[in-house]
Amino acid sequence: MSTPTFTDMCREQLELCGIVPGSTVAVLSQGNQRRSYVESFLAAAAQLDAVAFNVNLPAGDMGNDGEVGVWTVGATPLKGNQPAIDALKSVDLVIDTIFLLFSKEQLEIQAAGAKVLLCIEPIEHIRAMPPSKRLRERVEAGQEMLAKARTLRFTNEAGTDVTYQLGAYPVMTQYGYTDTPGRWDHWPSGFLFTGASDDGVDGTVVLAPGDIIFPFKSYVQTPIELTIEKGFITNIAGDLDADLLREYMASFNDPDAYGISHIGWGMLETAQWSILAHDRRGIGMHGRSFYGNVLFSTGPNGELGGPNETLCHIDMPMRNCTLYLDDEPIVVDGDIVVDVLKADDRVQV
Ligand SMILES: [Fe+2]
Repeated sequence: MSTPTFTDMCREQLELCGIVPGSTVAVLSQGNQRRSYVESFLAAAAQLDAVAFNVNLPAGDMGNDGEVGVWTVGATPLKGNQPAIDALKSVDLVIDTIFLLFSKEQLEIQAAGAKVLLCIEPIEHIRAMPPSKRLRERVEAGQEMLAKARTLRFTNEAGTDVTYQLGAYPVMTQYGYTDTPGRWDHWPSGFLFTGASDDGVDGTVVLAPGDIIFPFKSYVQTPIELTIEKGFITNIAGDLDADLLREYMASFNDPDAYGISHIGWGMLETAQWSILAHDRRGIGMHGRSFYGNVLFSTGPNGELGGPNETLCHIDMPMRNCTLYLDDEPIVVDGDIVVDVLKADDRVQV
């Protein structure tokens, strides 16, 4: 069997997103960025007899190549461009190749009922982590469990023991496609998360060697001990890595930078923890998605509906953790232990 082309992969993706003859698809791009993504999606949509078009914004000087991870100027190139926003609101599915994040413009597009799929990662990463209905089932089984839970606690051998009081915020899922009107997803990905009530996180998190820090895109070499009280980091202790993290967080000059953000776990068996050792491209979907990681995060919770809007957002996928929902183990030493959540090749029969 020959390797599928990216257009083939886009067609499968559009099918997963519920695109059928007559569906409408807009591909959002900026300047010449990711031109081949745009062409492939448009060709795939044509193969499915969907009605598709490209909304191409001027290159401008605000381009985000996906390496930075935030709109440093706080506004997307869509801001103020109501005709473009209206065009995107009018379709069934928007493919975002410029990284709208959770901007006001994106929320307006979603509120109109359009599905939004982000697609900016290197094609090799997209190819390595295909989405599937089976992944969606497993992630949604996790969503049900996480939505019912009142507490989430996780530990590791390095000394982590922290508890989140849940229930204040919804559970968000990412399984790499979206066929639900108004829903956002990111191709590729495979994890889920929620947030604690704003003062509802207490304990200690100790990042161990091998845990990942985004946006540094690096592996922790020396343990970092974070003391957390009432939802905020109150102390950062350790050697070199603690110094790096402390100075980075302080550089935002913002007390909200120390807030605790989303918490959840990775479920994608094709994602590679070790990828950053040899391939640092993209915004890190291997690292955030890898199977059995606990994705610990600090900073804003606006994405969940919370009040923290700091620009300092740090995602820290951690290995070898044990995570409990209301005292029931879900992940043990970095391995998912609940049958309905396990990847098919890890279920023992
Ligand atoms: Fe995050």
